[in-house]
Amino acid sequence: MDFLREIDEAADVIKSGGLCAFPTETVYGLGADAFNPSAVKRIYEAKGRPSDNPCIVHISDISQLDDLASEVPKQARLLADAFWPGPLTIILPKSEKIPRETSGGLPTVAIRFPSHPVARLLIERCKTPVAAPSANASGKPSTTKASHVAYDMDGKIEVILDAGPSEYGLESTIITFYGETRILRPGSVTKSAIEAVIGPVAEGKPDGHNPPEAPGMKYTHYSPLADVIIIGGSMEAAAAEIVTRVKASGGKTGVFCSDQTLPYYSELKDSAVLSAGDRDKPETIAASLFSLLRRFDFLGTETVYAETFYGTEIGESVMNRLLKAAGNNIIYRNKN
Ligand code: TXA
Ligand code: MG
Repeated sequence: MDFLREIDEAADVIKSGGLCAFPTETVYGLGADAFNPSAVKRIYEAKGRPSDNPCIVHISDISQLDDLASEVPKQARLLADAFWPGPLTIILPKSEKIPRETSGGLPTVAIRFPSHPVARLLIERCKTPVAAPSANASGKPSTTKASHVAYDMDGKIEVILDAGPSEYGLESTIITFYGETRILRPGSVTKSAIEAVIGPVAEGKPDGHNPPEAPGMKYTHYSPLADVIIIGGSMEAAAAEIVTRVKASGGKTGVFCSDQTLPYYSELKDSAVLSAGDRDKPETIAASLFSLLRRFDFLGTETVYAETFYGTEIGESVMNRLLKAAGNNIIYRNKN
């Protein structure tokens, strides 16, 4: 079937209250009509997601911003102009049109205009904004391939649009304009790129509880079935430590490494040693991060030893996800 017809049929599914997984430039999303409360409820059921964890509302034209937000500060508009369409989500006070199911009961709404041509066309054809979290089962690594979605959502959703692997592999950067301007989730639109447009912004957890951090951040995230243990230090020191631990380990082990460090593990014949990419191009590590975590599960790995990827802004964002996958289990962080 031709792809345009497939997109039209997927739009019909969303318009009639169904669920459609679709590609974006970050990760695959699980979409429903953002204005239809019962359709959005089905997203939560399919994912097993707590209902206080709001969905990002996806648009296909900047003009929709004013329909969804009750107020759009100048700085938010500057960011929209600079980075949309693209991997940035902007949180603003919500308009009356957003049902509580979509906003998780918060007074705000998260809005994103994705750049992926299939996502853009789908949203356009839906003629309604599309509420969409990442298309993984709640708590599992995000989905960067249609096959990941099929695995997690089998029998629970009407359509999966497959457009190959996601380009960025990290979910969008989230910035809030509710209360103090703050980056709630780092991503491929970096803090320094944002600051080049609007000046200094805060990042990470707020000291108090107002505004709250992204509700989703308090739940277990990106957890493969395997235990993930992160080993810090220089490339050589980390690799030596990982080799020692793998040799001493009884069960099925895996190593999450890089092209540069792959040779250090040549003696580990029985371990799944997988490179996430080139350390000099951290975007390659980001692009394969979730896919690799899922691959270890597919191989039946019980313990994954992962290197660290600090040193660049994208590397920091990779570590933000990897630390969650590991339940913050990091060893030797400051040692060389
Ligand atoms: O790249 C992405 O952002 C992908 C693609 C599909 O667009 N979507 C995505 O959605 O990652 P999700 O639901 O997996 O992550 C969105 C995060 C959650 O932690 C959620 O709690 C937070 O954004 N969030 C959504 N609306 C919010 C709001 N109004 N205030 C604070 N945090 C919000
Ligand atoms: Mg998610």
